[in-house]
Amino acid sequence: MLFGLIQKSKKEDMATTSAAASFLKSIATRRTIYALKPELPSNVTLDDVEATVQEVIKHTPTSFNSQVNRAIILTGEAHKKVWDQVVNSIPDDSGKRRPTSARDEAYGSVIFFTDDLVTEKLQAGFPAWAAAFPQFADHSSGAAQIDTWTAFTEMGLGAHLQHYNGYIKAALPADVPTQWSIHAQLVFGVPAAPAGAKEFGKNEVKVYK
Ligand SMILES: Cc1cc2nc3c(=O)[nH]c(=O)nc-3n(C[C@H](O)[C@H](O)[C@H](O)COP(=O)(O)O)c2cc1C
Repeated sequence: MLFGLIQKSKKEDMATTSAAASFLKSIATRRTIYALKPELPSNVTLDDVEATVQEVIKHTPTSFNSQVNRAIILTGEAHKKVWDQVVNSIPDDSGKRRPTSARDEAYGSVIFFTDDLVTEKLQAGFPAWAAAFPQFADHSSGAAQIDTWTAFTEMGLGAHLQHYNGYIKAALPADVPTQWSIHAQLVFGVPAAPAGAKEFGKNEVKVYK
């Protein structure tokens, strides 16, 4: 047992002294923050938020470099209107809690999509892989979501990830392309309280030599 603990701390030391230490610290610092204020940190503008999301969407890898990721940033009245429609579409009071807090306590939400036309083109071009492309789009969207979340944390924003996909899609502005499949919403603002405690399992990683 003691040996196990020593081994673990050695591994952690290796991680914190590696050349990737600051990147790993950013990954570990990103947390789910539900308690938000509808503001941006004083040194962050909406342009900064947009530029960050744009960079993440641009550089997140996609299968066959298909550039399948898309995003919308909602804030202000547009944000309130969309989440208000979600609140009003959910029948039970307990289900309304999170969308209500997104509407009233967050500064904005990033809505993540992938473009079905891109996925369908890949399927037509590479039939042997056709079944895999929707999953590849999911993977790449997940990477974009978490990279945005981590970047926001570095900017002093708090955020939580939601999946009110059907409700959100129904409430979005009419000119959002219909072939954009919706994956997730990253709801963000200034943190009003820290993240809760987080427990870790074994998170096994094996090395074979
Ligand atoms: C793929 C994925 C889906 C998630 N979906 C939701 C969700 O629908 N609602 C929610 O409140 N949190 C959601 N979360 C947040 C997780 O519950 C949270 O990341 C996890 O408990 C670890 O906590 P941390 O984010 O503070 O590290 C999701 C996270 C991931 C990675």
